[in-house]
Amino acid sequence: MVSPILKWAGGKRQLLDELYDRFPESYEHFHEPFFGGGAMFFDLEPENGTINDTNARLINFYEQVRDRPEELIELLESFDDPESDPDPERRFSESNRKGKEIKNYYYQQRELFNNRPYGDEYDDLEEAALLLYLNRTCYNGLYRENSSGGFNVPIGRYSNPDWVRSEEIRNASRVLENTEIHNRDFEYVLEAAEEGDLVYFDPPYEPMSPTAYFTDYSAEGFGKEDQERLLEVAQELDQMGVNVILSNSGVMYEMYDDSGFYVEVEGATRSINSDGENRDEVDEIIATNIAPERRRRAGQQGLADF
Ligand SMILES: C[S@@+](CC[C@H](N)C(=O)[O-])C[C@H]1O[C@@H](n2cnc3c(N)ncnc32)[C@H](O)[C@@H]1O
Repeated sequence: MVSPILKWAGGKRQLLDELYDRFPESYEHFHEPFFGGGAMFFDLEPENGTINDTNARLINFYEQVRDRPEELIELLESFDDPESDPDPERRFSESNRKGKEIKNYYYQQRELFNNRPYGDEYDDLEEAALLLYLNRTCYNGLYRENSSGGFNVPIGRYSNPDWVRSEEIRNASRVLENTEIHNRDFEYVLEAAEEGDLVYFDPPYEPMSPTAYFTDYSAEGFGKEDQERLLEVAQELDQMGVNVILSNSGVMYEMYDDSGFYVEVEGATRSINSDGENRDEVDEIIATNIAPERRRRAGQQGLADF
């Protein structure tokens, strides 16, 4: 059980027990197509498999963690406090790309992190170090980009920010050792997964009641059509004999239920009936194709826990 390195919106640490309850008795490879902070992956420590995310800088970060952990730690150790003065030896020590004054080190780091989206030269290792630095020093640990892809979260207020995270980096590097890392759309998993594997999908979503109008729903640009595509991919994986577990918004309850998945509601304060009544408090679902009799026994742990 390893801690995630990054704080990420939609992290699933609070849902892990409910997700593990749906796990099959055994599986071959583990795949996580919407990786984000990878709360499930790091907790599970799978021996091999694939991870994926469309965020290119996030994926570069995990590649550097896997392949160059000590260099990454060394670079992070060389960084200064976010409130300190900009480094005069580096670009953007006085103003940003738009000519706006840069008053402290944080905003210089943020401007350097945006080299890639603004078409400037960048270094993979430095970009990864900057991602972790900003994640640990920005406001609320948020990750948000403007329409050009520039990271634009302001400085946070921390009395003693810890951005080096050497233990977490070394542990994550070890867990990622035999993992293939992809930067594609989630559909890559149709090529990557084989019969007997396990796929955990955690797409972008905002928990909400299924009475909300479906087409109004879109999180991080992941809209209705993407949700429909995801259901089709889940169905195709099911046909291939792949185990699928998915967390999603309550809005998606019927789509998965109608398609023959086992769907249960999390975070509801009362039981749900199937004809759509009494569903107002639904906010999150877990859907799976793993029948209750195929699930591992309650309380059964992975080998790593013994
Ligand atoms: C809810 S977050 C995953 C959170 C993760 N389970 C955790 O514990 O931190 C969803 C992720 O999906 C990624 N994403 C968005 N659209 C995608 C797509 N079409 N294919 C793959 N990943 C996508 C986002 O960049 C984001 O990191």
